[in-house]
Amino acid sequence: MDTVQFRIGNIPVGEGLVVAPMDGITDSAFRCMLHRHGAALCYTEFINARDVLHDSIFFERKTAQLREEEHPIGFQIYDNDPMNLLQAAKKLIPFQPDFFDINIGCSVAGVANRGAGAGLLLDPDKVAEIFDRMTDAFSIPITAKIRLGWDDRSQNYLQIAHLIEEHGGAMIAVHARTKAQGFEGKANWSAIREIKDSLRIPVIGNGNVTRVSEIHKMEELTHCDAVMIGRAAMPNPWLFTLRDREEISNSEVFDFIQKHFGLMLEDYPPDAAMILFRKYLNQYLKPFALDREQKIQLFSHAQPLPLLNAVKTILRL
Ligand SMILES: Cc1cc2nc3c(=O)[nH]c(=O)nc-3n(C[C@H](O)[C@H](O)[C@H](O)COP(=O)(O)O)c2cc1C
Repeated sequence: MDTVQFRIGNIPVGEGLVVAPMDGITDSAFRCMLHRHGAALCYTEFINARDVLHDSIFFERKTAQLREEEHPIGFQIYDNDPMNLLQAAKKLIPFQPDFFDINIGCSVAGVANRGAGAGLLLDPDKVAEIFDRMTDAFSIPITAKIRLGWDDRSQNYLQIAHLIEEHGGAMIAVHARTKAQGFEGKANWSAIREIKDSLRIPVIGNGNVTRVSEIHKMEELTHCDAVMIGRAAMPNPWLFTLRDREEISNSEVFDFIQKHFGLMLEDYPPDAAMILFRKYLNQYLKPFALDREQKIQLFSHAQPLPLLNAVKTILRL
């Protein structure tokens, strides 16, 4: 690592962008590709503490596939019960996370309405209890990813951020929207600045960053320790190398596709890899505006090699 950008507890994090945890998207293969293209830090997709406690296959899928090159990595867990989080984290320690991240931002009804994810924003005492228990139990850092509040009228982000720091939290990532906003509307970057100005621990800024110019704007406006990219990572994984999509040559696109697909074939049975890879391929090929027929034809290939050859043709290589 050339330059240390910030530290999570005593863990140095190099220069670069942070990959937002995204369920169903940021699996080991995608995280590896983004690391290789300059990302400084990744998290697992969120892990339901109850899946861990009940040995669900979802937990195995989200944690067992971890490559050495992915470190440092945070294991993100969610639940509404501090003891469940603690017990699940104990079961996850053998997978060697560098830190645990508590999800205090998920807006999905099934999570938030039972008091987990963004639901925790409504219960500051519970947030404090979670950080007390987790920091007592583990020597690795405990961090959080939060939203600004439940809705416009209850934006308690400063209270929650202070509680997290006071109760031992080592870093906060801020998705600068409320739970009620979901993924719509403008993210409020001024709130990230307010949090950054009032805490000592690192603050990661997140929300609405899709282009290189916006990365610089967020850094300038918020003074955040690093910028976190979510949805824009799929159509433009090269954002992590500080390049916009139109700057990427077709041969570089193909090289990325080939390598990403190769990693997915290592991690999943071939049939599953072919299906799971479609959502990435759709995004990588977005500038080619394929119509329905062309997509049907592309995804009719049942074997990796013919699929890659068809991609080559689309890319005119
Ligand atoms: C499909 C999808 C899955 C997500 N899964 C998670 C998750 O598991 N944990 C989490 O903290 N946030 C999750 N998020 C939220 C992102 O991490 C991020 O905060 C949000 O997308 C805003 O950033 P963006 O504007 O750069 O996309 C998810 C978002 C999307 C679109």
